[in-house]
Amino acid sequence: MSTLGFDPARLGPPAGARVAVVGGCGGMGRVLVQALLDTGVEVAVLDLPSSLAEHAPPPQALALEIDGSQAASVTQAFGALGQRWPQLNGMVNLAGFFKGYERLQHLPVEVFDEVIAGNLRSHFLCAQAALPLLHAAGQASMVQVASTLAVDVVKRYAHYSAAKAGLVALTKGLARENAPAVRVNALAPGLTQTAFLQGGTGRERIFQGIKEEDYAAMVPMKRMAQPQDMCGPMMFLLGPASGFVNGETLIVDGGVYVQ
Ligand SMILES: NC(=O)c1ccc[n+]([C@@H]2O[C@H](COP(=O)([O-])OP(=O)(O)OC[C@H]3O[C@@H](n4cnc5c(N)ncnc54)[C@H](O)[C@@H]3O)[C@@H](O)[C@H]2O)c1
Repeated sequence: MSTLGFDPARLGPPAGARVAVVGGCGGMGRVLVQALLDTGVEVAVLDLPSSLAEHAPPPQALALEIDGSQAASVTQAFGALGQRWPQLNGMVNLAGFFKGYERLQHLPVEVFDEVIAGNLRSHFLCAQAALPLLHAAGQASMVQVASTLAVDVVKRYAHYSAAKAGLVALTKGLARENAPAVRVNALAPGLTQTAFLQGGTGRERIFQGIKEEDYAAMVPMKRMAQPQDMCGPMMFLLGPASGFVNGETLIVDGGVYVQ
């Protein structure tokens, strides 16, 4: 460790740290989980049973079933995690999906409720359940995965945008309420090449996806993001190099939305 207070040669949390990754079987989650394991971090993957079956986590990781949108399931999963690990140094919540490509005027209320539950309620419930374990570690970091659509609202995605905008607000509130022990930040990815574009890992394939070349043409970086592009920013927000970053939303979209 250097006098900087962090190791400049190391991006993420220190070896031996314990990090829970909710949605760790998804496209972005799998890359993050592998990067954490490769750098000596202990990882717990919490995900839907269907996603755990579709993309089983590496054997070194602790795997736990959870439905983040259901309070009883969250209590059970984090209860089991707390029995194994009474302290957590980090939690990343990647749970989320898109459904119901429709104007608000015609959007069924059931779809609205499902999208809010999967993208916002799940983050509220998991944060509540993880906070005692994160506080027990003395210093910890929470990362909530939002979307650029939280700020850059487009037609037919507004219900998803509302959930992700809510998540950004939740992040700010959690940051204010839990400093200095627990830092809380959000990552806002732009379109990224994962199963999300077809309906989501562990879920039914309900969309064709978006043509990579068409989207790439409007990105200043001239390509669609790959899940690897989100890994460094998540490692940074988890690790000590971002120790004075709190309540922020880090946009990672190749410059499509410039604030
Ligand atoms: N891929 C993109 O274009 C994109 C863009 C912006 C934001 N995001 C967000 O990034 C995050 C990760 O998405 P991804 O691209 O890896 O997609 P993905 O579909 O591969 O992964 C999403 C993960 O969330 C999990 N999940 C969904 N509902 C859950 C629930 N109720 N409880 C627990 N886990 C649940 C899934 O099982 C899956 O592992 C999501 O929150 C998504 O909204 C994705």
